[in-house]
Order: sequence, then structure tokens, then C-alpha cells
Amino acid sequence: MADLGYGDPRGSEWLRAELAGWLGRTRGLRAEPGDIIIVTGVAQAFALLAQGLRRDGGANGGIAVEDPGSRGSRDELAYWGLRPVPIPVDSHGLMVDQLAGTGVRAVLLTPAHQFPTGVVLAPGRRRDLLDWAAAAKALVIEDDYDAEYRYDRAPVPALQASAPGQVAYAGSTSKTLAPGMRLGWLIPPSRLRDDLVEAKHASDLGSPALPQLVLAHLIASGELEQHIRGVRKRQRSRRDALLRALREHLPEARVQGIAAGLHLLITFPARTGAAEDTELAERVSRAGVLVHPLSWHRQRPGPPGFVLGYAAHTPDQLREAARRIALVLAAAHLADLARRLVRRLVRRLGPLGVRAAVAPGHGPQLADARRPGQHDQEHSADGREQQGHAEREMTVRAHVRHIDCPAVLQDEDQQEQQDDGEEADGDPEPADPGVLGLERRGRGARGSGLRGGGLRRGRRGGPGGLSRRLGNRYWLLRRRARDPGARDPGARDPGAR
Ligand SMILES: Cc1ncc(COP(=O)(O)O)c(C=O)c1O
Repeated sequence: MADLGYGDPRGSEWLRAELAGWLGRTRGLRAEPGDIIIVTGVAQAFALLAQGLRRDGGANGGIAVEDPGSRGSRDELAYWGLRPVPIPVDSHGLMVDQLAGTGVRAVLLTPAHQFPTGVVLAPGRRRDLLDWAAAAKALVIEDDYDAEYRYDRAPVPALQASAPGQVAYAGSTSKTLAPGMRLGWLIPPSRLRDDLVEAKHASDLGSPALPQLVLAHLIASGELEQHIRGVRKRQRSRRDALLRALREHLPEARVQGIAAGLHLLITFPARTGAAEDTELAERVSRAGVLVHPLSWHRQRPGPPGFVLGYAAHTPDQLREAARRIALVLAAAHLADLARRLVRRLVRRLGPLGVRAAVAPGHGPQLADARRPGQHDQEHSADGREQQGHAEREMTVRAHVRHIDCPAVLQDEDQQEQQDDGEEADGDPEPADPGVLGLERRGRGARGSGLRGGGLRRGRRGGPGGLSRRLGNRYWLLRRRARDPGARDPGARDPGAR
């Protein structure tokens, strides 16, 4: 019954003893039970540390954080009055050499599996980080949030094991049992321990006893180890399923952070165009898939991407999610092409004296031309879904003053080549009237100039569905803009029969 009293604010003695052994075996830590404070998750460890740092008031309340890095952690530190100072992350982890210029006296990082990029802090950087901390008398906060999941590489020992006097170590059961357990541990440098225990006591008198006793039992009986072994296997097959599906549906995406953890990061191929990843994530969520836009986790600009968590989904669900993400990105790419096409059209009308503007809300709009059920119809011999011609077709509406231009955009590859060529040589003008033209479509077009007409991408040099008549009209207008005396090349000579 004593175990169910208020007890020690550091938490259950039994659990702390079991944890000391567990963390020694799994993370290389050499902590005594008395060094450990049981908290309600890594989040509470941050809260207690942040309040202490704030009270200290060193370095104007600045704390270095990884960029990109966990948005949730950054927001929490800011909530507790610290000012997160972004330090870039590269393929070796936090760029430790940039800490010196900041004047901060604390840094929060995820050295074993950087969130969200998944990189491991390189051995040289680990040494440099600890050297910096010793010289600056700074505190290193180690967030070991998903230490248990390593698939393709040996686990790296915790940073705290190398420098217990400089590093505060935080971990939890959120990734091994359940986030709702709200159970974690903090192992601070000894000089901070008393203040932190006092802060913990002031916050909640100690963490709930029952989850602590359950965890102590699970460790002592070996069930936790067995459970993690099983979950690791399951998560590995989920990761593999997602990876395979991404390679199939989104072969141009760069996938990072796959060797460990419960999430991976994709950065997009350039062809997704100019859309922000927040906007793309919104569209993906409308397609039924929840992802984090990478920019949420950034303080400074960088390439767009998605953080994809795979822990709570079956391989089939993950395959379907990858397929939907790929569809949304392909559609965004088409929308971007359409936007550029309309912009170019508007630009070309300018020199002709036509005052043109794309009316608000009437820019390129995306329509996934596929109907439900159509997705599975087109597969090539190797099983890869093909983007058929019809699927590439999309409708664009642009209003150019009074002129309504519903447009059909197609033949993505050819257009991309064209766009690239034009951007490369900086010449926005078409090489000939066959490249971009206006095609009269439907009965409403008769005799009415552009109204009711369609805009269609044609094939260079060939008729390509372009209306010669309207193409000629375009060129005549162009020439008239330069030479008011020019005649319509398609117009009949009044003297001819
Ligand atoms: C990088 C990172 N740190 C910390 C946390 C918070 O963990 P806890 O549930 O232990 O408070 C999370 C939660 O997902 C996380 O992703």
C-alpha cells in the first residue's frame, strides 16, 4: 500500500531501480536510481528544465534547437519563456560549430535519431558539442524520444553516458507503450537535481503511481523487452511497406530517416511546383491522409516535404496512403504547370494592348480528372500505375478581363520541356504560332473571338489541335502592336478570288 501514497516526488523507488538497469542495458547510461526523476513524459522533463533555465536567466533566455526540429518541443520551450534559436541540421546532425556565435547557454537536440530528418549526430559532432558545453558552461538536453526502434544500424549510445555532468537525458514510454501513459524519466546533471525535484513536487507532487508500478513490473518480468522486440519487427515491416510504396508511386521523392524510429521524411521532387507543403498537406488530408508538413518543423526556409508517421497503420493502409500522396503531388504539379501557362498567356497579351488579369479566385484550378474507380484501371506490365493521357488532362479557368478561358492542359512532358527551355533561355515568346495558340472550341466560339474558346497546348511544328485561324489572329495582333500597318496573313487579298 505504501506504493500508492504520495511518496517521493522523484517517483516509485522500484521503477527507478528497474529503469537504472534498463537504461544501462539499452542506452549505455550509468545512472543510480537516485539520479532519476519520473515525469509525465519528455514534455514534462522539458517543462521542468525550461522553468529552471528561465529562473537562471542566462543568455537572455535563449536555447538552441535543431532546425528542422520538433515543432512541439520548440513551442513548449517558447511557452515556458525560452527563446528557441535555430541551428541548422545537415547530414551529420546539428551543426555544432554554429552554437558558438549564438551566446546561448542551453541546447535541445535529438542526437540518436534527429527529428524529423532521422540523421544520427556524427561522432565528431558529439565530441564538439560536449566541448562547447564544457567551455560555455551550457546545458545539453538530450531528447531520446524513440531510442528503442533501430532497424538497419546498431543503436548509438546516449550522449549522457559520455558526459553526465553536462547532459540532461529525457525519455518516455510514449513510443513503446502508449503516449497516453504519460510516463517518462529525466536524468539531469547532479547540480540541477534538487531544484528539479522541487519543481516536480511543486507541479504535481509526483507522477501517478499505477503506471509506474506497471512499468516496473514489465521491466522486471522481461515483458517489456519481449514486447519491444515484437513491436520493432512489426514497425519494421510497416516501414518497409511504406518505403516500397513510396518508391513505386513517388520515385522522385527523397526519403530520409528510415534506419530508425517510427516516421520518415520525404522531400519532394521539383515537379510538385510552387505549392507550399502546408497547402499540400492540407490537400493530402482532404484525400484522407494525415501528414506533417516539413515546414512546420522549420524556423528557416528550406525544401518542402512531409513527415510521415507509420506506427499506427497497417501495411495496406500505408500503401494506400502513399498512393494518395503521390496523386496529390502529381495534381499539384499539373496545377503549377497550368498556372505558369496562364501567366505566360497573360504576359503575351500585354504587348498587344490587351489589359489582362487573372481575376482573384479564377486562377488555375485543379481537377483530378480521374473518376473514383478509375485509378486501378491502368497498369503496365510491371504493375506500375501509368499516367494515361486522359489522366493528365485538367481543366483550367482563367478570366482575362471579360474573356473567359476554360482551358484543357495536357501532354505534361512536352510542356515541361517547353517550360524548361523557355526558362533557360529567358525568352518567354513562342518559337512559332504552333507552340501556344488559342483554339476555338464549341459552338459558342463561333464569331465571338476568344469567348468560349479553349486554350490548348499544341505540338511544336504540327497542327496539334491548334486553330490556325486564331493562331494567326494572335500573331496579327502581335505584329500590329509593333507595326500598326501589318495585315492579317490569313486574310484574303481583297483583289484575289
Ligand atoms: C521529438 C519528440 N520529442 C518529445 C516528444 C514528447 O514526448 P512525450 O510523449 O514523452 O512527452 C515527442 C512526441 O511525439 C517527440 O516527437
